[in-house]
Amino acid sequence: MAKEAAVMLLALFLPLLVTAEAHLLQDQPTAAVGHAASAPTHLHFYFHDTVSGKSPTAVRVVSPPPTGSSSSSSPSPQPTFFGAVTVMDDPLTEGPEPGSAAVGRAQGLYMGSDQAKIGFLQAMNLVFTAGPHNGSTLALLGRNCPLDSVRELPVVGGTGKFRFARGYALLRTHWLDLRTGDATVEYDVYVMH
Ligand SMILES: *[C@@H]1O[C@H](CO)[C@@H](O)[C@H](O)[C@H]1NC(C)=O
Repeated sequence: MAKEAAVMLLALFLPLLVTAEAHLLQDQPTAAVGHAASAPTHLHFYFHDTVSGKSPTAVRVVSPPPTGSSSSSSPSPQPTFFGAVTVMDDPLTEGPEPGSAAVGRAQGLYMGSDQAKIGFLQAMNLVFTAGPHNGSTLALLGRNCPLDSVRELPVVGGTGKFRFARGYALLRTHWLDLRTGDATVEYDVYVMH
């Protein structure tokens, strides 16, 4: 009799226990808190930074101060561009050619912030003006050493379709004119949103 009662109780409460357990598991935070568990969105495009010519898309607004401290009689600008600030409104395109279909703009600044090598603090909005993300933006803030083969910048937020965005961008120089400083950079951006 006692055994029957125990089985009965178990039969009654087991489904409840299982349900409670399942509920608990669903409420467990995953690695990406607040984000869909699906794979990140991958964006691929090219960034064109034109500092030379009659219509540059990036302008130096602060020049690095002369080194001064060296014994040289003619102080020269620091070779790392430490202290230089450049503001950009650079086109983003689907392909590497400047005339390739427009994807958006990279609007912001990069500032020489490394005294040992060429290294920038880069703060910018990627403003999408075409395609499935037209009207949305991504905010990036990070360190960019343009002579490194691959640079990684954090994606710190976004708007529109990219609200709550977190992720990272991998930058690889596609083309660089060492004489002028003009460059085309390939971007691979991975975002959870
Ligand atoms: C992007 O969105 C704007 C505003 O809705 C629209 O005017 C424009 O035509 C769109 N551009 C493209 C290329 O779809």
